[in-house]
Amino acid sequence: MRTAPRYRARGSGLRRGLATLATSVLALGMMFGASSPATGAASPKARVDNPYVGAKPYVNPEWSAKAKADGGSAVANQPTFVWLDRIAAIEGVNGGMGLRDHLDAALSQGATLFQMVVYDLPGRDCSALASNGELGPDDLPRYKSEFIDPIAAILSDTKYANLRIVAVIEIDSLPNLITNTAGRPGGTQLCQTMKDNGGYVNGIGYALAKLGAIGNVYNYIDAAHHGWIGWDDNFTASATLFAQAARASGSTVNNVHGFITNTANYSALKEPYFTVNDTVNGTTVRQSKWVDWNRYVDELSFAQAFRQQLISAGFSSSIGMLIDTSRNGWGGSARPTGPGPKTSVDAYVDGGRVDRRIHPGNWCNQSGAGLGERPKAAPATGIDAYVWAKPPGESDGASKEIPNDEGKGFDRMCDPTYGGNPLNGNNPSGALGDAPLAGHWFSAQFKQLLQNAYPPL
Ligand code: BGC
Repeated sequence: MRTAPRYRARGSGLRRGLATLATSVLALGMMFGASSPATGAASPKARVDNPYVGAKPYVNPEWSAKAKADGGSAVANQPTFVWLDRIAAIEGVNGGMGLRDHLDAALSQGATLFQMVVYDLPGRDCSALASNGELGPDDLPRYKSEFIDPIAAILSDTKYANLRIVAVIEIDSLPNLITNTAGRPGGTQLCQTMKDNGGYVNGIGYALAKLGAIGNVYNYIDAAHHGWIGWDDNFTASATLFAQAARASGSTVNNVHGFITNTANYSALKEPYFTVNDTVNGTTVRQSKWVDWNRYVDELSFAQAFRQQLISAGFSSSIGMLIDTSRNGWGGSARPTGPGPKTSVDAYVDGGRVDRRIHPGNWCNQSGAGLGERPKAAPATGIDAYVWAKPPGESDGASKEIPNDEGKGFDRMCDPTYGGNPLNGNNPSGALGDAPLAGHWFSAQFKQLLQNAYPPL
């Protein structure tokens, strides 16, 4: 979600044939009140191919209430992810719901699918400051024993065995080790440290192994977005590193059900008015300032292609992708209604693109954004679901320094007066002003997301 590399890195058809059968068998079992094969001790084979198909997802009542109170009744019943963003979140912070409270609420809603983000790696968010976490670079032992182990203990309670639990594993982490280590433009020492000390790779391997041992948990690793790892070098190197992490700490690639792209980012799902193969007067759009030699111009094409790359890197051919469409709608009155003029590649791309960010490396509280596709199961080939992982209305980061005990820093990419850095081509941040800390409710942003929703509400 956060940092994009801003140097120029130039550079299913037969999906799961037996899956339908497995789904029907499970559905039959459930229909007749038999216990689901997906119980705590069950083998991973008991999992269904696509956990979203036929499922009733949990609606987080805390998010729902905020959305409703802020004019969002039209979307307040949409399922959003529960973020476990610190150790205390397992029990609940500031009187809010903890993991068990949410799971119990899911059961009372009659939900069959629960979605959560596991987000507390040591040295978290190494390239940005807005979501620096509570654990220091050397805190891998605490990550295991105080964060992952307690989560696994709760999720393996047989009471929850009939819930399909989607766990998104550690957003923004592994891609940072590819693009933002020391010595790279805009790179940081903390990313270098987390690469050198193995904290991310081993932490993720541990989380995958622990959660993957629970038969009804579906692990999806975060896979950044097209404006981060869509360049050739980053694309293949990321898939290789993901496979390495999936085999770390005693895990195997079989603990990975799929991947998620665009988590908390703003990349458009589809650019309807240009493709990466277009040329203008013989010049490829890849040479435009916006595309900047990227191989992909939108998330759907990227997610489908990256899935193939992941399979080549050793993941199962049955993996599925999720795409976070919570805030990538880019509707409203400023949305282009046709292609740009063919006077130059820049005029063509800038006039036709629906993603209206100043630069694709901008990631914080983007001005002009709207809600994207509503959550939907099996929307396209290789895609398990469009999901709302980032709960719309929750800030990406504070636009100025705000003292806090959540490990949240002040990242100037959230400051509308900032002129940028190499990671966004030294462009303005495009962030909305007066933003609260990451994760806190940002009413003005939520209202803009409603207004610019696409598809419209
Ligand atoms: C924050 C988390 C928050 C999440 C979802 C992240 O940027 O760091 O605290 O839970 O966003 O809004």
